[in-house]
Amino acid sequence: MSRITLTKPDDWHIHLRDGAMLNRTVNDVAAWANRAVVMPNLTPPVKTLDDATAYRERIMSAFTGSSNFEPLMTLYLTDSTTPAIIEEAAKSPFVCGVKLYPAGATTNSAAGVTGLESLKPTLAAMEACGLPLLVHGEVTDHDIDIFDREAVFIERILAPLVDEFPKLRVILEHITTKDSVDFVESARNGVAATITPQHLLFDRNDMLVGGIRPHLFCLPILKRNLHKEALRAAAISGNPKFFLGTDSAPHTLETKESACGCAGCYTAHAALPFYAEVFDEEGALDKLEGFASHFGPDFYGKARNSEQVTLVKEDNPSPLSLSFGESTVAPLRAGETLSWRLESTE
Ligand code: DOR
Ligand code: ZN
Repeated sequence: MSRITLTKPDDWHIHLRDGAMLNRTVNDVAAWANRAVVMPNLTPPVKTLDDATAYRERIMSAFTGSSNFEPLMTLYLTDSTTPAIIEEAAKSPFVCGVKLYPAGATTNSAAGVTGLESLKPTLAAMEACGLPLLVHGEVTDHDIDIFDREAVFIERILAPLVDEFPKLRVILEHITTKDSVDFVESARNGVAATITPQHLLFDRNDMLVGGIRPHLFCLPILKRNLHKEALRAAAISGNPKFFLGTDSAPHTLETKESACGCAGCYTAHAALPFYAEVFDEEGALDKLEGFASHFGPDFYGKARNSEQVTLVKEDNPSPLSLSFGESTVAPLRAGETLSWRLESTE
């Protein structure tokens, strides 16, 4: 197959940032996705419906396209998120979830949650209102190795949480391990996971053998090859619990290529070619539409898109860098040739 037409996808996990960066981030994702679930980890974070409303307006002002584009907003769960904040947000048509960052786990997570015990009434309110919990699934304890942090999070935090709130809808974001695949597969209904392009394309050897490649550094960190293979198997399985979420997260060239580089890969400009390459390599292009366009809206209880996109298999040179106003970002696989290209959206 050298051409494939799909229902237009959505991105169920993306970082659009703010200010001048919005001009590119918003239009890059809107070129191939109708909806995007926007992460709230700004400084300061998006904590209330008012914050989300204002942020959404800034996003829509940066959107210059003529297609439909609908940012779905998330609130940042903090130790002081009250049930009243949840109840107010749940009434909004554009707030689609609440994001749990364990404090210190990743970029702009300092305001994240230090413990779930005191948040039980808030989680109960989410369960009652049907507002999903989006989870960055890593523990932050110093004694837990960075490569084990996702698996330990499942065991210590997520499995008990999913049991304690049996109706809470939970999305384990950007999964990176076989442990997560196994957990989500066997979990009760209402538990799902998103998978990024970088975790399907690369393993930790790609990042570290022969020199350290900071542009492959993201969180949760790339794992060993067996985990990448488990993620690929999950993505192409046709199991509706696994769907597309790019975690596209721009950082400037200087902050990536640094003695203490930032975590995040920018993929919004070419996300569908990245995913198509993986599904093609796996001989599973027929499973791409479910993963990219059906299972996400089904899980979130939204209508599938009616538009379509077409991808063609042909050389697609990826830029060395992208300009973001005053700054420069090196996207994932900068300077390489991708094997698929987005031909049209209609
Ligand atoms: O690699 C990442 N970058 N992982 C995250 O969880 C956050 C993101 C960011 O905001 O840069
Ligand atoms: Zn993210």
